[in-house]
Amino acid sequence: MEEVNEELALTTLPGVGPATKQKLNDAGIYTILDLATASPTDIAEAVDIDTSKAVELNNKARKKLVEMGKLEPDFISASDLLEKRKAIDRVSTGSRNLDDLLGGGIETWAMTEFYGEFGSGKSQICHTLCCTVQMPRGEGGLDGGAIYIDTEGTFRPERVAEIARARGLDAQEVLKRITVARAYNSAHQELIVKDMGRMIEPNGVKIVLLDSAVAHYRAEFLGRGTLAERQQRLNRFMHQLLRTAEVYNVAVVVTNQVQAAPDTFFGDPSRPTGGHVVAHTSTYRLYLRKSGRNRIARMVDSPYHPERDAVFVLNEKGVDDPTEESPRKRSSS
Ligand SMILES: Nc1ncnc2c1ncn2[C@@H]1O[C@H](COP(=O)(O)OP(=O)(O)OP(=O)(O)O)[C@@H](O)[C@H]1O
Ligand SMILES: [Mg+2]
Repeated sequence: MEEVNEELALTTLPGVGPATKQKLNDAGIYTILDLATASPTDIAEAVDIDTSKAVELNNKARKKLVEMGKLEPDFISASDLLEKRKAIDRVSTGSRNLDDLLGGGIETWAMTEFYGEFGSGKSQICHTLCCTVQMPRGEGGLDGGAIYIDTEGTFRPERVAEIARARGLDAQEVLKRITVARAYNSAHQELIVKDMGRMIEPNGVKIVLLDSAVAHYRAEFLGRGTLAERQQRLNRFMHQLLRTAEVYNVAVVVTNQVQAAPDTFFGDPSRPTGGHVVAHTSTYRLYLRKSGRNRIARMVDSPYHPERDAVFVLNEKGVDDPTEESPRKRSSS
């Protein structure tokens, strides 16, 4: 936990000595990245300084990241931004239909949310992406590793191995390049994401999968009285995750259950959990539903993606395209 990428060490900032570093560590802030994404209120509380000093510290961290080229400056020309955005890569989902809907695959430097009811394929998509990200560039992959944050205990290495073999990959090698973190509660989930930066570069990670984003928050913060606190914690967490995607140019994929009908707060039974917080932080959002043996994905709220459905299936290869012939036939596996 103490071991951080030296470049990002807190003590490289002027004015941060061992004592301040220790106080920040105690509050879960280990790197300049953590400091840049923490709220000034949290920093003020951690180090016991007033808010204006905390804002200063927070700004220093952000400036340092800009100097290191890990973050865009506050003002940047649109042409520079276009140039920077050329670094964005795409990972295939395993289904050409679904990739087309996404404009060519899951984007790095962005957060993509899949939401839908149980069995709609959210976890299967995550399992498949662990494999496809490792494929060579030009074959849908980025020759990269994956981090899988499992909050529900549903990650199955056996399933990943099956998908890898079905895709002609060496299952053992594929499993070696996936780092799994089991998050036991929301605080643990937050700690894992704060601590994740140091895993990304050494392991050549190109995708982070969070399955699922909201379940712990939903289970822990019950009742209307705690809703504001829950949304605030979730908001901070989701922004930290998005910032990670931007700083490291990795793809971040989060899954989200839909509200079960009887206990819905809002009246709409197919609303994703987490309300506007998750919705506003995600760059792209896809709604999944079951239709017989098929799965249907729809891009939601995107200004420049087409309003249409993509049909995919789940099979031994994980996510795949439906076979052209006899879509009604149920005999083949
Ligand atoms: N080996 C396999 N071969 C074919 N289909 C499979 C295989 N394993 C799982 N599936 C399909 O995946 C479905 C489960 O999908 P998944 O676990 O991704 O759902 P989910 O959206 O994550 O649901 P939840 O909200 O419960 O987490 C199963 O119902 C089955 O149809
Ligand atoms: Mg699941």
